[in-house]
Amino acid sequence: MQDQLNKILEQAKSQLETATDRAQAEELRVKLLGKKGELTQILKGMGKLSPEERKSTGQMVNGVKGQIESLLENKFEELKAKAKEAQFKVERIDVTEPGVRPKLGARHPLTVTMEEISKVFMNMGFSIVEGPEVETVFNNFDALNASPDHPARDMTDTFYITEDVLLRTQTSPVQVRTLLKQKPPIKVISPGRCFRCDTPDATHSPMFHQIEGLVVDEGITMADLKGTLDSFAKQLFGPETKTKFRPHHFPFTEPSAEVDVSCFKCGGKGCRVCKGSGWIEILGCGMVHPNVLKVGGLDTEKYTGFAFGLGVERVAMLKYGVDDIRLFYENDMRFIEQFK
Ligand code: DAH
Repeated sequence: MQDQLNKILEQAKSQLETATDRAQAEELRVKLLGKKGELTQILKGMGKLSPEERKSTGQMVNGVKGQIESLLENKFEELKAKAKEAQFKVERIDVTEPGVRPKLGARHPLTVTMEEISKVFMNMGFSIVEGPEVETVFNNFDALNASPDHPARDMTDTFYITEDVLLRTQTSPVQVRTLLKQKPPIKVISPGRCFRCDTPDATHSPMFHQIEGLVVDEGITMADLKGTLDSFAKQLFGPETKTKFRPHHFPFTEPSAEVDVSCFKCGGKGCRVCKGSGWIEILGCGMVHPNVLKVGGLDTEKYTGFAFGLGVERVAMLKYGVDDIRLFYENDMRFIEQFK
């Protein structure tokens, strides 16, 4: 009996040595000490023995069982320590290793341009107001003195949502909102998105940005308009910049003008940017039409004002030499990153 038990013990030892993970050790535990294990079988068979034999055999078997149990316990401890060590190795952090720099985005060139323009006007005492992109036909056309048959009202030019609601085609409706809300003196600019049914090409996009300006007070004249916009052009494009006011037509201003600046690339000699003319058109402007002032309930004998509207994409394209408007909306980091 003793021999048989020794053999079981030796076998258990060598088998445990080869176990390399918890699953294997667990399998061995079941095999050695479980119901079907040799030791259990021996203990089961002890009923046939005499009381003396039963006692000594029981002691022997339990002795071996105890040894195997502690062998197993050691093995489990050892495997646990090993697993922990392996985990430490995987999770180890080298605190001296240099960090990974977070990838910084870049401000969009249109944002940069809008902020630059806004800053110039803010330094001249303008405040910024905002209006919604979804507008009423009244604010976008009627209140701005656009005749009922004005071509811009056409479905082919304007995105209508209902008969009375549209996506604003210009930032000019913010003039109406401001006049309805604010008493003179008024001196505001309003940057924002506009929408027109245009097929995208190198110079057209169905969504684009404008900056609107409105100044209303007693005694505002065309001289104020010219002085303000001339000063703006010099601050944005450089002190050498000259401006030229060409007569034009807009329904909401009278008189109306378009403003050209001397080409900031060639200084007026004529180049690719100004298409040889030496001048670049940058905005539309004029003295606010009395019909528009009346919408705000103002006495048009007492109050006058001027307004202007500038295309942000156009200015950004000229300033940065971008030759396709679509580049602004493609979100290609290789393009945007150039304006950091
Ligand atoms: N709203 C005009 C446009 O989209 C631009 C404009 C012209 C705005 C003259 C004005 C202005 O305020 O006075 O073409």
